[in-house]
Amino acid sequence: MSLYRLLRPLAFVLDAEQAHRATIRALGLLPRRALPDFPASLASEVAGLRFPSPVGLAAGFDKDGEVPDAMLSLGFGFVEVGTLTPRPQQGNPKPRLFRLAEDEAVINRMGFNNGGQVEALARLGRRERRGIVGVNVGANKDSPNRIADYVAGIAAMAPVADYLTVNISSPNTPGLRNLQAGGELVELLGAIAEERAPGGPPVFLKVAPDLQSGDHDRIVRAALEGRIDALIVANTTVSRPPLRSRHAGQAGGLSGAPLGPLALDALRAFRSASGGSLPLIAAGGIASADDAWVRVIAGASLVQLYSALVYHGPGLARRIADGLAARLVERGMGNIAEAVGSG
Ligand SMILES: Cc1cc2nc3c(=O)[nH]c(=O)nc-3n(C[C@H](O)[C@H](O)[C@H](O)COP(=O)(O)O)c2cc1C
Repeated sequence: MSLYRLLRPLAFVLDAEQAHRATIRALGLLPRRALPDFPASLASEVAGLRFPSPVGLAAGFDKDGEVPDAMLSLGFGFVEVGTLTPRPQQGNPKPRLFRLAEDEAVINRMGFNNGGQVEALARLGRRERRGIVGVNVGANKDSPNRIADYVAGIAAMAPVADYLTVNISSPNTPGLRNLQAGGELVELLGAIAEERAPGGPPVFLKVAPDLQSGDHDRIVRAALEGRIDALIVANTTVSRPPLRSRHAGQAGGLSGAPLGPLALDALRAFRSASGGSLPLIAAGGIASADDAWVRVIAGASLVQLYSALVYHGPGLARRIADGLAARLVERGMGNIAEAVGSG
């Protein structure tokens, strides 16, 4: 029995946010360890970075960049910290995080609670650079100029980031997702492109799964024009597929298993809109090597997960990586890059 299986019932007695806080604290106490070795077939280059495994930790687990090294050593090929806003903010009133155990899902309306970019910059600046750590940036809820917040975040966090993610798809900051709309998106990405220093980290754009037909083409065009290096598809959904848990009616973004089919549809729509011209990173409901494989052959160069950790523990990242390597062998493929979009 894994240690996680043993501890899970204990963690589930706690309120979801308390359990998360306790997890971060425990991870912070882990002694520093070497980064794991992954099968060579899993290493690939995306946006100019060399990823040792395509299985990454999605944003929101380590908002303040407290434990990226622990998560890398537990078997993630890359870790995305954040969302970080320019100024610290409290987020929404508690409770704001709900486990939907019967659905292997989570609903959150955290609202970008974080200690702010200044504190995270100092913390991340103290670590020895190893592994791939991306920094996800957002806008403060009360910001008079959200575009300026993104531009400031890109500039501020670049020195400690292997890549940066522009998160315009959180449903928990009112109006934020409007930045995905035509004119605003072009303006935002233009402003970011101007701010980027030559030789700086690549910039990814994270989108919502809740888009209309036509949005995918428009977003891909804006991303290519705005020199975005990859799209992360997707954030949590405001839709509610059928759910069994008593928390189903909670407001916020839904993630985990029920998001899977929606996120896969969105990935396919972005693949067909981009024809492979823009690397795609899949997130949403990935809980097994099969789930990850389906995203890869649908066009994802990398995958990320968060909610499945709650139900399957941190060993999951390594199990998915090994499962992907086994599928490559079965299919006579030498490298994960051959599988991308092959389905
Ligand atoms: C509690 C929680 C907090 C999250 N916070 C953020 C965040 O701050 N920024 C962000 O871009 N995504 C955030 N996400 C979304 C995840 O990064 C991911 O896109 C989404 O949960 C789908 O993946 P999953 O089904 O594997 O969880 C959060 C998700 C959860 C469950």
